[in-house]
Amino acid sequence: MSEKIIIFDTTLRDGEQSPGASLNVYEKLEIARQLAKLKVDVIEAGFPVSSPAQFEAVKRIADESEVIIAGLSRAKEIDIKTAFDALRNAKHPRIHTFSSTSDYHILGKFGDSKYGATLEEKRKTVLKMSYDAVAYAKTYCDDIEFSAEDAGRTDIGYLADIIETAIEAGATTVNIPDTTGYTFPSEYGAKIAELKRRVKNINKAIISVHCHNDLGLAVANSIAAIQNGARQVECTINGIGERAGNASMEEIAMALKVRKDICDFYTGLNHSEIYNTSRMVSGFTGIVVQPNKAIVGENAFAHESGIHQDGMLKNRETYEIMTPETVGVNKTKIVLGRHSGRHGLKSRLIELGYHPSEDELGKAYEAFLEIADKKKEVFDDDLRVLMGDEIYKEEELYELKYMHVNAGTGTIPTATVQIHSGDKIVQESSPGDGPVDAVFNAIERALGIKPTVESYNVRSVTSGRQALGEAIVRIREGEKSFNGRGTSTDIIEASAKAYLQAINHYLVFNEIKLEVFEKEEMVK
Ligand code: KIV
Ligand code: ZN
Repeated sequence: MSEKIIIFDTTLRDGEQSPGASLNVYEKLEIARQLAKLKVDVIEAGFPVSSPAQFEAVKRIADESEVIIAGLSRAKEIDIKTAFDALRNAKHPRIHTFSSTSDYHILGKFGDSKYGATLEEKRKTVLKMSYDAVAYAKTYCDDIEFSAEDAGRTDIGYLADIIETAIEAGATTVNIPDTTGYTFPSEYGAKIAELKRRVKNINKAIISVHCHNDLGLAVANSIAAIQNGARQVECTINGIGERAGNASMEEIAMALKVRKDICDFYTGLNHSEIYNTSRMVSGFTGIVVQPNKAIVGENAFAHESGIHQDGMLKNRETYEIMTPETVGVNKTKIVLGRHSGRHGLKSRLIELGYHPSEDELGKAYEAFLEIADKKKEVFDDDLRVLMGDEIYKEEELYELKYMHVNAGTGTIPTATVQIHSGDKIVQESSPGDGPVDAVFNAIERALGIKPTVESYNVRSVTSGRQALGEAIVRIREGEKSFNGRGTSTDIIEASAKAYLQAINHYLVFNEIKLEVFEKEEMVK
């Protein structure tokens, strides 16, 4: 009989660890609501002890969601307590605690002799820490998940011991992560099967898997694990996550649906919300979905060659194993225009999965009118990028209010920008190597900072010469990078907005207030 696979979404936790991705609390709330609409079973909302912003986001999601909400914690009392504080009002709270179990991790993280003189002693210490962490978490709630970090490279005998210990302490889900994306499907599947054989109390817990994509095998590994006894998969929308990312939810979901004939499992997902969710996550994180990405890429259902098109016209099944409609890709484009009105905009946004407050709707409507003025027809994709473009703002952001660029053949490009924060304004001008360089220089002068620009990309969102241009800028400061995204029919303006958004993400993350805006005298 067909068995259910529990979908554990970690877009807001592991996914947010993608280079450059940083989501504010309002964006996280919107994604959590959309994940609920997609009908995932568990939402891992964040790592509460890691920062006040993470705590706040987990708490806000836990306060309102009907879904199981998980909060991550290391195997430490302070982490576990903080995770539960954030989850306290959740209808279904889950504490997710983890220990490092491979020799690489144990020797790397527990090198100090206080954890034991030999590897064997250190392993015992980790075993005890894991037991204590789960038992402590159990004093707060019943639903406890334990993860053996780097299980993919952990010795099977030790892994079996630690999993048995975690279940003994009260873990209801045991997760076997392939943290480094190292394993092969046959090897990983065999590991799950072996754990089922060796761990005496394994039937008291659900086996979960969490695969990273370093070798491009995350989805294949997750499916191999399901075929060998895993009943929960941890995954992210668009496969985002640390380094090469996590297993992509949409790929696992559709593989199970399309190949039910050889892999008889089902999920509770509402597949027709996959595309909306994918686009929302891309919009808020600034991580563009590659065009050839399975299921949700722009070309996933495009047929280019004449032979393919001809085959499709005669019978869709010639070249199509699933229909775009199944995942919510709408081939008939819904168009809004200048006369659509605030109400029309609101109902279309709700259909696309957004729940703007009156204030946010006001901002979205202003941005919509600006676009509608310039390009007459506004498509869903325009609306999605518009919503990713600072509609869900945090307070105290620095905003581009005015920009003027002089550029042309034979002239030195120069730009002037005016940046606002609250009622304060600064204005600066600068030359540059080109119009984009000039405007970036002017922003840097105005703010008095000069971040390292790691990447800069521009593309058009919809087709035609009046298409919205979308710019994505990634800046790096120390260990961490920050994405910014800007849209406009003017690509220089889109670039300036993207750069400023990346800077805002950096400043908010580090709780930095810029000196130039703290002065009494400001340019007006
Ligand atoms: O990749 C990993 O091992 C993790 C754990 C914290 C589950 O993300
Ligand atoms: Zn991970």
